[in-house]
Amino acid sequence: LEYPLILINFKSYREASGKKALELARTAQKVSRDTGLTIAVAPQLTDLHFVAANVEIPVFSQHVDDVSPGSYTGHVTLEAVKDAGAIGTMINHSERRVRADQVDVIVKRARELSLVTVVCTNTPEVTAAMAALGPDIVAIEPPELIGTGIPVSKAKPEVVTSSVELVRRINPAVKVLCGAGITTGEDVAAALRLGTVGVLLASGVVKAKDWEKAIRELVEPILKRA
Ligand code: G3P
Repeated sequence: LEYPLILINFKSYREASGKKALELARTAQKVSRDTGLTIAVAPQLTDLHFVAANVEIPVFSQHVDDVSPGSYTGHVTLEAVKDAGAIGTMINHSERRVRADQVDVIVKRARELSLVTVVCTNTPEVTAAMAALGPDIVAIEPPELIGTGIPVSKAKPEVVTSSVELVRRINPAVKVLCGAGITTGEDVAAALRLGTVGVLLASGVVKAKDWEKAIRELVEPILKRA
């Protein structure tokens, strides 16, 4: 996985479900190819295989359960998301919280399976705790800013900088993303300036009328920096 990273979470939005999930992933792939930037997608679980089989950009699961393959009806295993073509998984999103001990199990098992883990957090303190578990990435998202269009990188820069600082002290191998309210390239540039390796976002792209335009606008300032 190369950085900076833009991770687009499709959540359970109808706009990015089924065939549209692939359409959005292909749009992300187009911009990624044109710009050379890493743009990854996290479609709904039901679309994971369909999307991953048809694009070459990194595809993440939005969630997994802390169970091994076997007698667990209605659960999703790390092995299953790997078989579906995902390179990794998000876990503990504020819309799908799990217990810290479950995050621990998932991070350890994902490492054995060479799957990338993105652990979502809500405060610098929780970010620090999750970084101690040794995931590849932590993603700090103040829940009250999710879906508002008010970017964490502007509204709460101190939440991002203290998260980055704590992770540096506790486990410097862990990368930090930030998310919530990110919609413009300026927001992404601000996130990078605060010490993150990129952003996790959803509505700014999924809800946009023109996906390609929205994604291009997001990455533009990073290209200028390079
Ligand atoms: O996972 C990303 C997310 O929670 C942020 O949502 O819509 O504010 O970009 P949004």
